[in-house]
Amino acid sequence: VNRIPLIAGNWKMNLDHLQAIALVQKLSWSLKDARHNFGEVEVAVFPPFTDLRSVQTLLAADKLALKLGAQDVSPQQAGAYTGDISAEMLAKLDSAYVLVGHSERRHGHSESDELVGEKARAAQAAGLVPVICVGETAEDLETHGAAAIPLAQLAAAVAKLPADAEFVVAYEPVWAIGSGEPATSEQAEEVARALRESLRDLRGDDVAAATRVLYGGSVTSQNIASYLRQPNIDGALVGGASLKADEFSRIVQFK
Ligand code: G3H
Repeated sequence: VNRIPLIAGNWKMNLDHLQAIALVQKLSWSLKDARHNFGEVEVAVFPPFTDLRSVQTLLAADKLALKLGAQDVSPQQAGAYTGDISAEMLAKLDSAYVLVGHSERRHGHSESDELVGEKARAAQAAGLVPVICVGETAEDLETHGAAAIPLAQLAAAVAKLPADAEFVVAYEPVWAIGSGEPATSEQAEEVARALRESLRDLRGDDVAAATRVLYGGSVTSQNIASYLRQPNIDGALVGGASLKADEFSRIVQFK
């Protein structure tokens, strides 16, 4: 199976809608002739909710190959959920993807494995592809090793999804996020391989072969190629380095 690499830029809580427009315009200029237009790599940006409409308009007008994603979603469809955003709302803004279970949600907002699975389910039901984020803290790493927590988080989320659901897995060791201390490509590959093996048990060979597993955590233009060379890593979830047009386009055009 040919898994097209996905380079995803998670802006987190950065860039107001004017700054978002400026960044996408710069990206559009630098990526105009890049290979993402030829199906060799898929590129998606994950702006804050308040930027989605502006970015959607820009992407549609420019016929850019960039895809849109959101950073979180409610598990509920609609109703009295003050402050929440539904998957349907995101779908109407042409969001193709949505992150669920980012460590900043799991740890900063005490999101349980169960809630993350419900969010993935709500996203999938509205036609979005959930990007299920998993990863161990430094403490987990010491106590359980690298793979145990990510595997448990993945199994809990996948259990909520129907058999034919498409999803992406993002492996982000919490200790590598924003720390400037990325996992080595060998460490990341080891967990990515374990995640793919567990997908085989959970969903069968075809799903395991077709599902993209991304690495995230201090990815830069300097280290991206080392991850993409690994057989079980199919892209990256990029935080800080996705906020600068030049750096993000260098990442997208990894060699
Ligand atoms: O979603 C992105 C990750 O949390 C990685 O962030 O590239 O700033 O380490 P970072």
